[in-house]
Amino acid sequence: MAHLKLALQLQESGFEFQTGERLHVYLTNTLDQLHQQTAAMLGQWIAKENEGAEKIKIDKPVVVVVGNPPYSGESRNKSDWIMQLLQSYKTEPEGGPLKERNSKWLNDDYVKFIRFAHDRIARTGHGIVAFITNHGWLDNPTFRGMRARLMADFDDIYVLDLHGNSKKKERTPVALKAQGDDKNVFDIEQGVSITFLVKLPNSVPVEPVEAGEEVFELTAPEPGVVKKAKHRQLEGGKVTLKARIHQADLWGSRDYKYDWLEKHSLLDTPWQDLQPALPQLLLVPRDETDAAEYERGWKVTDIFPMNGTGVITKCDQLNISFSAKECFEKVSWLLTATESDARQRFRLPKLGVRDWSFGAAVSDVKNSGPDEIFVKPVLYRPFDQRYLYYTGRSKGLMGWPVQKLFRHFSESPNIGLITSRLTKGEPFAHAQITDKITEVICMSPQTSNNGFVFPLWLLPEQPQPDQPLSAQRHPRADAGD
Ligand SMILES: C[S@@+](CC[C@H](N)C(=O)[O-])C[C@H]1O[C@@H](n2cnc3c(N)ncnc32)[C@H](O)[C@@H]1O
Repeated sequence: MAHLKLALQLQESGFEFQTGERLHVYLTNTLDQLHQQTAAMLGQWIAKENEGAEKIKIDKPVVVVVGNPPYSGESRNKSDWIMQLLQSYKTEPEGGPLKERNSKWLNDDYVKFIRFAHDRIARTGHGIVAFITNHGWLDNPTFRGMRARLMADFDDIYVLDLHGNSKKKERTPVALKAQGDDKNVFDIEQGVSITFLVKLPNSVPVEPVEAGEEVFELTAPEPGVVKKAKHRQLEGGKVTLKARIHQADLWGSRDYKYDWLEKHSLLDTPWQDLQPALPQLLLVPRDETDAAEYERGWKVTDIFPMNGTGVITKCDQLNISFSAKECFEKVSWLLTATESDARQRFRLPKLGVRDWSFGAAVSDVKNSGPDEIFVKPVLYRPFDQRYLYYTGRSKGLMGWPVQKLFRHFSESPNIGLITSRLTKGEPFAHAQITDKITEVICMSPQTSNNGFVFPLWLLPEQPQPDQPLSAQRHPRADAGD
């Protein structure tokens, strides 16, 4: 189709193809490398297409990568080649592996496409990447290593944040209200941004990460551009982040955004220069004046090393009940019900979904008795106590009971802090106390912001059977001190 459309367009403009000449447009999976076996199995035409594409991907000095890559949190592109490349984004800005329990959002297809383009331009030595993608990578804490690697390899980074993030309930700032309520430029929930990554010819080479180095430098190596180098004592390596960051926001209705984009280019966009600060290197404007003072504070994760998100049931209608009686009735009923009965009574997860199946749910209940001692109160929403049947088994009656964390609540009285890692466009009001198991979005039904729970008391891994549990608990016992 692309060949046909482009050929027609070229014909209209007077271009004539020489005999045997073809347009260098190829059908390929960008995120995979050619496998001989697969190629042999495909039709000859597709195999040829792949070969042509592969030559370009590997050998040709590509200087421009343009795209509107797909977004897919549950990416199916997991070839060794792209996963290996992606490793460099799963790092701390100063080097070393990313200290995050969950880095799965970095596996999104759009991140892989950025990584692919990044690698392609880095191998050529200069060039431009121009992408429109999910804007999550600009400020998601888990993406700090990716931001650092891009800032280390490119000379200029232009980010036009098109917003429209309905998950974060983004709103047009009051001063720009005339531009209309903030809407997405596509029919999607994730906010969007346009990014240009520019690598100049003969640009200053990146200093390699050296393990054991203690000084962190954030420098702009170009003479004439005076940005003060920031030095920080950090564990890890030494990285020079050289990119100048140019950022702009576009707020308003979809029509306003389309019209604005039609009329503007890189040259007349009102860019503001950002000086992203460690440790997050955010590519969104933020007042960083007091960042150093903020960083001197104690991290809540250091105070309470045992922490995690609330439980994810995968099917609230079945798992969450208004009373203990209703809760026990549901699980007892499940033992004699067929899957189709259960699907009629509850909205259960789709067939084949990860981490939940009817059979596993029934076995979990059966293996536990059922017994009323497993019926526990749960903090479902702010000040909204419900009940659930808590066996602690993952991928059973519920998907993620986070047993490692909530055994400290289900086996003995406890109290814990709940807070969030970020706010989704709301002013910060995200601190609660719980004395029970909590559900993952117990803090904010409006934005579904994940609540992290920090128990005050911890039980030993192997409690002594001859002593009451309440006598064995210690504040943060398992963490050393
Ligand atoms: C968001 S759409 C953009 C479509 C079109 N480029 C545009 O801008 O309107 C993403 C496109 O990427 C294609 N795509 C998805 N995964 C791909 C992969 N691994 N390799 C190459 N293309 C892929 C999809 O088929 C889809 O056409």
